[in-house]
Amino acid sequence: MVRKILLAGGGLCIALLTSTAAGAGDPPPPAKRTILDGIYTAEQVAYGENVFYGSCKRCHSTTEWEHESFLRARAGLTVYDLYREVLETMPRGRPGSLTYQEYVDVTVYLLSRSGLPVGDRELGIDPDTLQSILIVQPDTAAPDSGSVSR
Ligand code: HEC
Repeated sequence: MVRKILLAGGGLCIALLTSTAAGAGDPPPPAKRTILDGIYTAEQVAYGENVFYGSCKRCHSTTEWEHESFLRARAGLTVYDLYREVLETMPRGRPGSLTYQEYVDVTVYLLSRSGLPVGDRELGIDPDTLQSILIVQPDTAAPDSGSVSR
């Protein structure tokens, strides 16, 4: 009996947390995906590359994001976390100076340098969607893919 009450309490707690995170009346967040699930299009990578060349290239090289340490340091975080990191700190000296969509596009570009698979839908600025996509390390999560060689 005691146990039952505890379980019920736990359930309520989770329900409260979930409803706070999603906001009242919002649809439930989509199931978790990862960056390996084709979360952006090849075209969007080109948009992001444009942003990168316009706003980031003078301080960063394009190869910087190909090192596995870039994703390893963020494994377990979501695409939203990386997007917010970039939005809140970059371009250095003028953080937040791009549009939300440009920040998403340039985040996509950074991710794309790890050779992730592309999909058929562009990534938008919806925070719930961005939060539902987990950053994982390509090699760890898909040990057999082996398509990216250098
Ligand atoms: C004026 C120079 C400058 C510009 C422009 C700039 N950055 Fe940076 N960026 C830095 C410096 C310096 C660091 C490392 C120190 C720090 O975090 O402040 C950094 C760090 C970063 C990091 C973290 C790197 C890591 O490996 O942890 C990311 C991601 C990043 N920048 C993305 C961008 C993007 C995207 C843009 C363009 C929208 C941009 N930066 C524009 C100077 C710049």
